[in-house]
Amino acid sequence: MLRLSAPTDPAWVTQALDHLDELLLDHAHLEKKAAGTAVTLLFRYPERRVLQEPLARIAREELVHFEQVLAQLDRRGVPFRPLRPGPYAGRLHAAIRGQEPDRLLDTLLVAALIEARSCERLALLAAALPAVDERLAALYRELLEAEARHHGEYVRLALALFAEPEVRTRLQALARAEADALAAGAPAPRFHG
Ligand SMILES: [Fe+2]
Ligand SMILES: [Fe+2]
Repeated sequence: MLRLSAPTDPAWVTQALDHLDELLLDHAHLEKKAAGTAVTLLFRYPERRVLQEPLARIAREELVHFEQVLAQLDRRGVPFRPLRPGPYAGRLHAAIRGQEPDRLLDTLLVAALIEARSCERLALLAAALPAVDERLAALYRELLEAEARHHGEYVRLALALFAEPEVRTRLQALARAEADALAAGAPAPRFHG
């Protein structure tokens, strides 16, 4: 079960299909960023034993996803290039509290919500894409399972380190912040925007 507070507007799928190559480029950067988030947490919290293997595994899987999306870019003839991040992640990270251990809890839950949104959108694209690009649709069907698992894993890690009522309350608040971050829009079509 994904713990999102609002579903994606169906208009996003139409927009995404109209700008598929740019969306795919954005997606490649997001997979790399997802690996970076897990690695950053490994370096920031070496004393939290419970985090180590799950985060190492997530980082590895996200790097494989990055390579898989790069292969799709090559197949579609889209050059890989730098892309300015959309405003979504910045808006969402602004909701993370600065003091430990609140910062750790919020960072795990924000990561969980980003994974959930990725999973939701990969499912929407996987359903819409077969008519456009069946091989990309097949990859997205595969990836959405992994992102659903990552979502559950980040929530599980939060529950391993913090009391359940605190996790639930914070997850609800951050899920609203996530929906607001999406609703505020983006200047260009983005995977999260
Ligand atoms: Fe991924
Ligand atoms: Fe993921």
